[in-house]
Amino acid sequence: MRAMSKPRTVLSSRRDFLVTTSAAAAAACAGPSFQPHVAGSDRIRVALVGCGGRGGGAAANALSVQGEQVELWAAADVFAGKPEATVDALEEQFGARAAVPKERQFVGFDGYKQAMDSLRPGDIVILTTPPAFRWVHYAYAIEKDLNVFMEKPVTVDGPSAKRMLALNEKAKAKGLKVGVGLMSRHNFGMQELKKRIEDGELGEILMLRGYRMHGPAAFFRSLKKPDGISDLMYQIQRFHSFLWASGGNFSDFNIHIIDHLCWMKGAWPAWAQGIGGRHYREGKEGVYVDQNLDSYGIEYVFDDGTRLFFDGRTIDGCKHMYASYAHGTKGVAVVSAHDDCGLPSAIYKGQRMEAANLAWQSQVKKEDENPYQNEWNVLIKAVRDGLEHNEVDHGVRTSLITAMGRMAAHTGQVVTPQQMLDEGMEFAPDVDKLTMDSPAPLLADANGRYPVPMPGQKGMREY
Ligand SMILES: NC(=O)c1ccc[n+]([C@@H]2O[C@H](COP(=O)([O-])OP(=O)(O)OC[C@H]3O[C@@H](n4cnc5c(N)ncnc54)[C@H](O)[C@@H]3O)[C@@H](O)[C@H]2O)c1
Repeated sequence: MRAMSKPRTVLSSRRDFLVTTSAAAAAACAGPSFQPHVAGSDRIRVALVGCGGRGGGAAANALSVQGEQVELWAAADVFAGKPEATVDALEEQFGARAAVPKERQFVGFDGYKQAMDSLRPGDIVILTTPPAFRWVHYAYAIEKDLNVFMEKPVTVDGPSAKRMLALNEKAKAKGLKVGVGLMSRHNFGMQELKKRIEDGELGEILMLRGYRMHGPAAFFRSLKKPDGISDLMYQIQRFHSFLWASGGNFSDFNIHIIDHLCWMKGAWPAWAQGIGGRHYREGKEGVYVDQNLDSYGIEYVFDDGTRLFFDGRTIDGCKHMYASYAHGTKGVAVVSAHDDCGLPSAIYKGQRMEAANLAWQSQVKKEDENPYQNEWNVLIKAVRDGLEHNEVDHGVRTSLITAMGRMAAHTGQVVTPQQMLDEGMEFAPDVDKLTMDSPAPLLADANGRYPVPMPGQKGMREY
């Protein structure tokens, strides 16, 4: 683990971050160095790396693009049985187009290479492992001239964000098409809301707020590692519990709302401060040893002084709140009505969200309602028609800004994007060298407990 230099609370200018990232965004998109797929001429082959819940979902979206010939060609995972289970389920739904034979199902840390080696330049690889592996797999996809769909978050810390931005320069130079699973951006209701905000219907945005507050979900918490599995594989399997693997539940759960609120504002926050705590470390099942806090309250501050407040809570029995809002001088908008990006979006006159004040509500056609499908329709069209499409720079910025709030809460300090890029702790610098026998990037103490955030005690280190 790399240590950070001396803790710093001075705000560095946001300009540096923008220079770094806008240089990336402005880089020329050269033409592809390989033959793009031509409509109707052949099937696009897709390889799936990370055969879990979202991987299966993304593959199903790829196979569901209307009027297209897409074929699941290969599947890879680090756990035996996962490629087979995913292929079987997809084959049941899509028949021969998803019937990946055993010889193209790969298991192990190198499985991603074998899966990508089986594709042709211009085919698509889906990267849906825990995000720690994203830059490793993306680097190889670029080397192989593959178009990519990758899930969020795309990085978990500052140093890997920097690496991802540099890698993306290569992808853009090759003209690769890359979708990132920040599906709010493909929600048609939110797209119209964004236009209306740009047209001034909300006036000046003064404050944004988002909430994700529900009971424990996914691998938010973990008990002590049982026998029969290595520490490394336990941490990978339960990646939401471990900061190196996922950015923790804060990054994994909250990124969508933070992303779409920044989109509505049309800016990235200059700094963040925050608080967080863990009320419950024991439950009926036993003692939880993971690294997550169960409550977070983050204040993101934009250059113009306006604020984005985000509250996250993962505790049973409390009020469920999972939605997002933008307040302007003329009115208030419901950005996500429920969950990560739930329809309908709406605008109310004034600050009270009452029926009498409703000024506009999104109307989206049934067939356009699923943003997970919309993002794939856009990606496949870009691949077929050779259109520019690369969502990675924006995916990195959103991942970094989300992690900035997390780091602020975990350290108890003010954090800027530039600090994260230049001095941030890299949780697992050798993630590209892992084998089944490697020690885990995070070590438990004699009682099987992992280090947790200790605000105020560790300078700018998160644990
Ligand atoms: N956009 C969304 O709304 C959304 C929803 C769910 C998940 N996700 C994202 O998708 C990603 C996967 O989440 P999930 O819920 O599918 O988790 P999951 O645990 O169900 O699936 C992840 C799979 O990746 C495999 N894996 C881990 N490391 C690997 C490696 N190095 N090489 C190959 N395979 C590896 C695991 O064994 C597992 O099968 C995460 O980044 C998550 O944040 C996004």
